[in-house]
Amino acid sequence: MQPWRFTLDEDANRISIQFDESRKALAAFVDEQRMDRLAMGALLENIEQVASHNGWQLLQEPPTPPAVATYRLREERAGAATVPPAILNRVTNRKLYDGRPLVAEVLARLVEKTPALEGVLTHWITDRSRLPALGNLLGRADTLRFAEPALRRSLLSKLRFDQPDEPDIAEGLSLGSLELSGVERFGLRVLPRMPEWLLRWSGALSAFGGTGRRQVESASGLCLITAPTGNGPSDLLVGRAMQRAWLALTTEELAVQPLMSLVGLETFLQQESPNAATENRLEEWRAAGAAFRAGSGLDGNNRLGAILRFGFAPAPTVRCGRRPLESFLSNATASITSPSNTVVA
Ligand SMILES: Cc1cc2nc3c(=O)[nH]c(=O)nc-3n(C[C@H](O)[C@H](O)[C@H](O)COP(=O)(O)O)c2cc1C
Repeated sequence: MQPWRFTLDEDANRISIQFDESRKALAAFVDEQRMDRLAMGALLENIEQVASHNGWQLLQEPPTPPAVATYRLREERAGAATVPPAILNRVTNRKLYDGRPLVAEVLARLVEKTPALEGVLTHWITDRSRLPALGNLLGRADTLRFAEPALRRSLLSKLRFDQPDEPDIAEGLSLGSLELSGVERFGLRVLPRMPEWLLRWSGALSAFGGTGRRQVESASGLCLITAPTGNGPSDLLVGRAMQRAWLALTTEELAVQPLMSLVGLETFLQQESPNAATENRLEEWRAAGAAFRAGSGLDGNNRLGAILRFGFAPAPTVRCGRRPLESFLSNATASITSPSNTVVA
């Protein structure tokens, strides 16, 4: 969560953003590093939306590595920022939604707010008759991801079993935010201690698939973000497009949850050198991805970048906390240069 560091040069009205190297160990797998790049893209979208909401001119400067983005405010004194309500209200909602279909006017507004972003496309699936089959495949991806011991350990390591329902923990996910039933909660607690054979034979893994399937079936639709390539800069654009869609959905008072197991599996497949145990499951992973693409009508050349479900639901039980600002903000360095400027907002 929040895998970034900010360097603020107040005299020059400039802010530089980079990945927080000290947190790399928290994203040990390529799929997690990709999720961090998407989260970084979402942050950049927030910065640009705050600037345009306040009528500020934000100049984008070529970042000096390791910075991934550098912005300078043209205003001498910009005053206090007001943050758009959608950014303040955006939240992950893992409840079951009420299955209401989306009306055409809402869909039209969503489409309008999510145009193509340098080749990164946002697709809206609102025909609810397609959701059961797609939910089945996303549930299958959850099961496959959980069946892979290394990926499972990495997911479980983010859960705060010590602070089950606390909203304000700065690190990791509280169990409360997962909206689990009592049985599911119990299962999750004992899971880390279960031997591999028991896990496979007890049906515990497919229980996860069932949750994912029901979550999709209860939604009003899915939002898919695709990119022509899968490199780092394109992930930042995918993250921005994902955040645009999420903020547009929040403005329409729709609940949202990213469902990224399939994206994570595909990333793992493309970049990690699989070990012998993983090798056996590769075909199944590929098949799930191919079936999802076919079922959602995606062009096979486009890489799947993000999947969100959305719908109508009560507010989430627990909202995740944030790291305090001081933990990722440093003061100015003189090393940031600005050879040329481009107005971006
Ligand atoms: C790139 C990315 C991928 C995510 N993938 C998932 C996911 O697969 N399943 C899920 O339930 N939440 C997912 N989330 C939601 C995060 O867990 C959530 O944003 C984080 O815990 C902070 O909570 P908040 O969104 O309520 O502020 C994802 C978020 C991001 C930015």
